[in-house]
Amino acid sequence: AETPVAKTPPMGWNSWNFFAEKVTDADVRAAADAMVTSGMRDAGYVYVNIDDGWQGERDAKGVIHPNARFPDMKALADYVHSKGLKLGIYSSPGPKTCAGFAGSLGHEKQDAQTYADWGVDYLKYDLCSYGDVMKEKAPNDPEAQMRLMEGAYRTMREALNTVHRPIVYSLCQYGMDAVWEWASDASVGGNLWRTTGDISPDWDRIYTLASQQAGLAKYSRPGHWNDPDMLEVGNGHLTAAENRSHFSWWAMLAAPLLAGNDLAHMTPAVRDILTRREVIAIDQDALGKQATRAYADGEVEVWTRPLQGGALAVAVFNVGGTRHAGTHPFHLDLSKLGLHGTQQGEDLWTGKAVTLQDHQAIALHSHDVLLVRIPSPKV
Ligand code: GLA
Repeated sequence: AETPVAKTPPMGWNSWNFFAEKVTDADVRAAADAMVTSGMRDAGYVYVNIDDGWQGERDAKGVIHPNARFPDMKALADYVHSKGLKLGIYSSPGPKTCAGFAGSLGHEKQDAQTYADWGVDYLKYDLCSYGDVMKEKAPNDPEAQMRLMEGAYRTMREALNTVHRPIVYSLCQYGMDAVWEWASDASVGGNLWRTTGDISPDWDRIYTLASQQAGLAKYSRPGHWNDPDMLEVGNGHLTAAENRSHFSWWAMLAAPLLAGNDLAHMTPAVRDILTRREVIAIDQDALGKQATRAYADGEVEVWTRPLQGGALAVAVFNVGGTRHAGTHPFHLDLSKLGLHGTQQGEDLWTGKAVTLQDHQAIALHSHDVLLVRIPSPKV
């Protein structure tokens, strides 16, 4: 049976977006340390996830060993656990991972046992070279290829079920085969599944991935989440507004909040975004209902998310240029949100009380967001 994990979207950090395949034991320890000292642990972050690049060779018995950058995986897990955090790891159902390291094909049970012996709490399982296996086994038969892919994710689920340790199971096959329709079946038991290709630290990509989530809300629920990929907050040249919007959007989407930046060297401004409790509370809301797009109007998108206790989160994003900044505000149409009359709420980024009225003028800088929680919406 699948394990009762990920009741709310997993929160933590993953090495890939910043360190890629060069990640080391020291980088992971530094991320765990910073998760504590930055206040992220206290704000709800738990998982410290090693992505691709930790794998070494298999021994004569087929047991996987880490490479020289990870001298002792059990000791690393103990260290992470000693901080009140949990450790995540990464593999592929194929012979090789995306960065060319050893995958789990033919060693699924053995690998699940090895992870459990080390004290691993989370597995990201990335299709990668299994795509070639599918093509070899079922040439010119895309349908049969998809069944093989589903089977590969079941095989690892069965392997995880044989180890007596709760392990979050994260599927990564870039949204192929309408993964949201089968990933949470008991036979697969996915706790999260990637709905998209890879993120990158630029606004156009972040906006593209976010808008691809429209229509997926019904597949997401406690224990089972759509995953539009890990966070880029604090990476590349994202502006403060872009970091805020990215984080707000992922919170609205009940997305996993897996920071992907260098936690040990982040600026206070980035830390403040990642630890903004009022916004995290939207992501972690116990109702577990993902936001839907209420409407789009030119360069503005308005999304709403029902929250426990009858509250509502409303997010207004200026996804384009500067048209709605300054003297050219956007006019909110409350009826399109199912709301009528004056609404009292809180601006979750400033902490200030806000009143939303029909045709309210909202001036937003390019790529910025207004995120409001309305405790008692008037419908
Ligand atoms: C794929 C995944 C990424 C990352 C890399 C690692 O591209 O989608 O998230 O895990 O592989 O090689």
